[in-house]
Amino acid sequence: MINEDKNQLTQPLRQHKIFNNWEVVAEGWYPVMPANRLKRSEVKSLLICGQHLVFFRTESNKLTALDGYCPHMGVDLGIGKVQGENLRCFFHHWEFNQQGDCVKIPCQETIPKKARIKHYPCLEKYGMIWVHPNTENPSPLLEIPKLAQQEVSWQLDRPYFRKCHHHITMVNGIDPQHLKTVHDLNLSMNLSIKEDDSGQIEIDLQGKVPTDNLKDRLMKTILGPEYSYSMNYADGTLAGLTIMKDVKLFGRFDVLPTLHMFFAYRPESRGKTFVQPIYVTKKRRGLVGALTSQALLAMTKLAFKFLQGEDGEVYENIRFNSENLLPIDGPIARYIGYINRLKPSLWSKHDAL
Ligand code: FES
Ligand SMILES: [Fe+2]
Repeated sequence: MINEDKNQLTQPLRQHKIFNNWEVVAEGWYPVMPANRLKRSEVKSLLICGQHLVFFRTESNKLTALDGYCPHMGVDLGIGKVQGENLRCFFHHWEFNQQGDCVKIPCQETIPKKARIKHYPCLEKYGMIWVHPNTENPSPLLEIPKLAQQEVSWQLDRPYFRKCHHHITMVNGIDPQHLKTVHDLNLSMNLSIKEDDSGQIEIDLQGKVPTDNLKDRLMKTILGPEYSYSMNYADGTLAGLTIMKDVKLFGRFDVLPTLHMFFAYRPESRGKTFVQPIYVTKKRRGLVGALTSQALLAMTKLAFKFLQGEDGEVYENIRFNSENLLPIDGPIARYIGYINRLKPSLWSKHDAL
């Protein structure tokens, strides 16, 4: 039993249209697997957001995602074989192209109209394979604005699971109260949320580094008096986090690096969320450049482990309630509204559409 099913009569929960709703898979890019796990001419089937899909790379290395059951008798196409640019079903050797159209049936010339399966946009970025449930012009995969259009170096961390919906884990970055109560960051904040046409939102937090205790004063000496970070969310499935923004060593020298990371989410099963942390930095040339990038990626990882260690357990047993949000929780209320405006995809449960 998942937490949402518990205490239903004494602590009733409001069911949202999309937000925190396990029956709905919203449109968006979902992480699949590290790109190097699927080699040229290889095929793999996987359950992604409850949808059985098959992924393959053709002989010329084109990546393809299709529905995972053969339209003939329903065999798992993951046990099939790549033949040139097509995928061949194991059972009766029907062959499918990258659009999911059957192009060959060994025992007869004519191909029935229904001999086709749905294909899905998929791509490779930040060392991962990503898939989108909507075939019609999906929006581009999220980029961190400061790194947009640039070549980046990346590092994938070990994925982990959370026992709550990914919409809930994404609340963490925009919950102003908990920065004080949990992370002991006594920041005063200006919070702005920009929502653009692509369905992405940007959240900026700025504040003055406090001077309440020795630790704070030390931080202020090293990082200067101002602190800011920003988050970019896309489709409720991908969050980009930029920390150490505009900080200056001893308040003067512009030498401190800005660190960037992504959290990519997908529902694994009801009550279980897959989380893939990805650290990114601008690609630098030459040996020194490469070493600098590696050092920054290692620093980003350290920063993430530090933040995660402080409140990771909150999300292991939470039963999120949105009925008693305070004015200070405004960003969370706006975020819930944004999520509820996302479109449900065809991977949602039948009754949820
Ligand atoms: S089940 Fe796939 S070809 Fe028959
Ligand atoms: Fe936190």
